[in-house]
Amino acid sequence: MNMEWTIEERYRTYERMTLTEKERLETAVSSSSWRQNYHIQPIYGLLNDPNGFVWFNGRYYLFYQWFPYGAVHGMKHWFQTESFDLVNWDNKGVAIKPEYPFESHGIYSGSGFVHNELLYIFYTANKRDSEWKRHASQCLVIMGESGEMTKQNQPIIQSQPKGYTEHFRDPKVWRKEDKFYMVIGAQRENLTGCVLLYQSDNLIDWSWQGEIKTNENNFGFMWECPDFFELENHGILLFSPQGLRPKGDSFQNIYQSGAFVGNPLDTLTGQFDHGDFQELDAGFDFYAPQTTLSPDGRRLLVGWMGLPEIEYPTDAEGWAHCLTIPRELSVKNNKLLQQPARELVHYRKNENSKTVNLNHAIANLEELSGISYEMICDIEVQGAKKAGLKIRVGNGEETLLYLDTVARKVVLDRTNSGAEFALDYGTVRQKNYHQTIVRFHVFMDTSSIEVFVNSGEIVFTSRIFPKLESDGIQFFAEGGCAKLNVVKWTYEY
Ligand code: FRU
Repeated sequence: MNMEWTIEERYRTYERMTLTEKERLETAVSSSSWRQNYHIQPIYGLLNDPNGFVWFNGRYYLFYQWFPYGAVHGMKHWFQTESFDLVNWDNKGVAIKPEYPFESHGIYSGSGFVHNELLYIFYTANKRDSEWKRHASQCLVIMGESGEMTKQNQPIIQSQPKGYTEHFRDPKVWRKEDKFYMVIGAQRENLTGCVLLYQSDNLIDWSWQGEIKTNENNFGFMWECPDFFELENHGILLFSPQGLRPKGDSFQNIYQSGAFVGNPLDTLTGQFDHGDFQELDAGFDFYAPQTTLSPDGRRLLVGWMGLPEIEYPTDAEGWAHCLTIPRELSVKNNKLLQQPARELVHYRKNENSKTVNLNHAIANLEELSGISYEMICDIEVQGAKKAGLKIRVGNGEETLLYLDTVARKVVLDRTNSGAEFALDYGTVRQKNYHQTIVRFHVFMDTSSIEVFVNSGEIVFTSRIFPKLESDGIQFFAEGGCAKLNVVKWTYEY
């Protein structure tokens, strides 16, 4: 399925897919051994950012960026999924497709906002002109309770303000008191990234307020997918900056996602007082997260488990990427924490637990083997230099998750995880830890691993592409003793 794409092939809407093309894609996908079990993934084609994540009309709506024809970035549509419980998701098909000249090259990312029993969906219309110059405008679709959608035939924000380039996209809307606000990712004419703030009284007419004034004026060349919300009296600006250089263990991937945690935003002046940028994820594959509120007031986050401009092993099978599991956010000592959404316990089946004490040894945990499961491991190091898990073990393959107690780092190593990719960005990720007992809360699926460390202060989100037969799991302690307490549930979704 690897092919060179002409512009015509890349910029076709889904309606134009022929039966032969559809059958070819379905056949390629059905022969993949890396299809996920419980993560949201495309039927075929490429998924990227989560969009329009919202609770409306008694259910969650979660859309995503979708290019149907294969694993490249081309004509983007919004694909719609729905769930009553964050566990069972229904595919509903294409929700928003390119129709007007101003959106001729794709329906780009955006958000949903519920007001007066209507779901307002804001998105970026992407257009290329005859010189292939990009034009971006912000647009609106309104959905009623019966699901019918009405698209405005004109953008609600025609173009970027003066002083900014055409990299102007990904509107996210919220309400504070009786006014509505929107953040949009942007690039200044001096090619630095920032977030623009808009305001409205009716969700339709928007006026530009200026930039969100942060402490970082030269922090990457573009800030994509901004999100602003308040959480436990803090103002939080989430965004995906492009163009940061690696720094210590941070910023190791091609592009980053993270947050400024600070005081509530001054919506009149745009002033935002905040601390240092906090990278949201320490793993290999995480980008463009978006949040929403659950009906009981929790701040939920979903991200794209993938990155732009990286080739993945499933590309050759006509599909790429998936979304992360939903997470709950909280703030502790000005740090943003992430935990798996509590609803996920409904996936749990077949509980199995075990305690193992090791002294410079490896133990096979045969009864815990598998490829799709949740696992909570508490590791207590009693002298070992390294202690942790070998996951998806088989025939030369293994994914390592361990504590390096000398360097005091938690390490995720996918050097031997299976099919190789993104090697330019390295195969090891690590972060400092400080506790004596470390908890790994692990979510494994056929081709991914998500690890929440301790109370969610470190998260590693990564794709891995092992063989199906590589389903072993081992506990190891090097150079001393360590104790493992583990509980595991199979996920048979
Ligand atoms: C982030 C992003 C967004 C854009 C979308 C297009 O991954 O580049 O900025 O709206 O993807 O698919």
